[in-house]
Amino acid sequence: MTVLPTFSFSKIAAPKKGTVVLLAAKDGKLPELVAELDPSSTLAKAIEVSKFSGKAKSVVDVLAPANSPADRILVVGVGDVGEASDISWAALGGVVRARVAGDKAVTVLLSGDGFEVSPDAAAAFAQGYLLRAYEFDKYKTRKKDDEASEKKPSAQKVGLMTAEPAACKKVWATAEAVARGVMLARDLVNEPANTLGPVEFAARADALTALGVEVEILVEKDMKKLGMGALLGVAQGSVRPPRFVVMKWSGGKAKDQPVAFIGKGVVFDTGGISIKPSGGMEDMKGDMGGAAAVTGLMHALAARKAKANVIGIIGLVENMPDGNAQRPGDIVTSMSGQTIEVINTDAEGRLVLADALWYCKETHKPKFMINLATLTGAILVALGQQHAGLFSNDDELSGRLFEAGVLTGEKVWRMPMGAEYDKLIDSKFADMKNVGGRYAGSITAAQFLKRFVGDIAWAHLDVAGTAMSSPATDTNQSWASGYGVRLLDRLVADHYEG
Ligand code: BES
Ligand code: MN
Ligand code: ZN
Repeated sequence: MTVLPTFSFSKIAAPKKGTVVLLAAKDGKLPELVAELDPSSTLAKAIEVSKFSGKAKSVVDVLAPANSPADRILVVGVGDVGEASDISWAALGGVVRARVAGDKAVTVLLSGDGFEVSPDAAAAFAQGYLLRAYEFDKYKTRKKDDEASEKKPSAQKVGLMTAEPAACKKVWATAEAVARGVMLARDLVNEPANTLGPVEFAARADALTALGVEVEILVEKDMKKLGMGALLGVAQGSVRPPRFVVMKWSGGKAKDQPVAFIGKGVVFDTGGISIKPSGGMEDMKGDMGGAAAVTGLMHALAARKAKANVIGIIGLVENMPDGNAQRPGDIVTSMSGQTIEVINTDAEGRLVLADALWYCKETHKPKFMINLATLTGAILVALGQQHAGLFSNDDELSGRLFEAGVLTGEKVWRMPMGAEYDKLIDSKFADMKNVGGRYAGSITAAQFLKRFVGDIAWAHLDVAGTAMSSPATDTNQSWASGYGVRLLDRLVADHYEG
């Protein structure tokens, strides 16, 4: 199993051993310290021969000559240092980690010719480095070739040299907390459904009590008492009972109104009686990506001791076909009292969220509710894997989410809503039906959710395209992305703390 690297910060000095990483801006010039590392100018020659120009993410990689204290030296291009954002520093960290993954000791000089890497940038670099190191390999019993000779894999030690080690350490504590939240979300999404049912997921959420999160777990009879007929209708087709988890982080002042995050946690979505085609159905183990993001977010906020009161709610069910499963045409009564005709049992996420949103609104009266859900395949058709769909009744909240998306790289794109779409889910027999027509599938799903939020500021993020089956990036090589944790952590940090 991969052991994640550990980081330490120290003052700038000549590196004495192991792998050394130097940075160069777009002029390609090396930091002064290089003289001690490279007495015979091996590096200078390599740079010349490879026409290294300091372009962002370009690398020159040499074995250090015998008269160098180092074993290996890399020069990594930063490009235009003035233009570099936290996102590009994180990407750079990822690029470096990929290059040196097998090395025991790595020293990175976070200072170049004519520039210093700021504490924020240094923390972003380390965060990208750590996230790139994440692998979900717990079910691989055979070691990779490069691990074959090791008895026990040991953690790589990464020493980051900077002009401001104390300031870096402080920012890193926060950035690491967020990265741990991202990796928790990835772990949950990657985990197969046979080992992660509603009960097991709830236990993972319960573990957040160690960080000071209050966790309440409602079981079936509690949900029955509350009248959560929409969620329970989905759950009844599975032999594994549902769970409803309320996580509470009270880092703000007692009088601060909480903010709330709600996640769809369908641990596996077969479609139910409206069963899905078998091709690719294994991906539906990730249909709890919304709940995973909420859990990862709560971890991040608690671990970095966010100064805000935050509620995290996840509805955990399994959508299975069974003798006791709900049927198309069934009418269920939601906790809100509104009735729903279940036209398609595969439109189950909105049924779970209907009760979760209503419960949240009634029980916690939050400042806003943001729900995350792998809700529709249609959002992939509209936006692909680059943006989550954003649906909202509130322009300010939407603007803040958009901005947080730009800053973290977890991008959102706002989609339209309106009465013409809403009427598409009116039902002949009940207050509403759970699917619209053929068109605008992501929007009619959002209109459905909107019927359960009252007049609270609300945003729905459809993360079907961004939470799973993720394209490999500089900071993620795993199937699950952990999408949403950085985005929402940023939203809270920038607008709802202190
Ligand atoms: N979990 C799926 C949506 C999904 C699709 C997530 C692809 C990730 C990747 C959801 O429950 C679903 O089945 N939605 C249906 C809705 C339809 C029945 C109106 C869909 O998108 O086809
Ligand atoms: Mn479904
Ligand atoms: Zn689903």
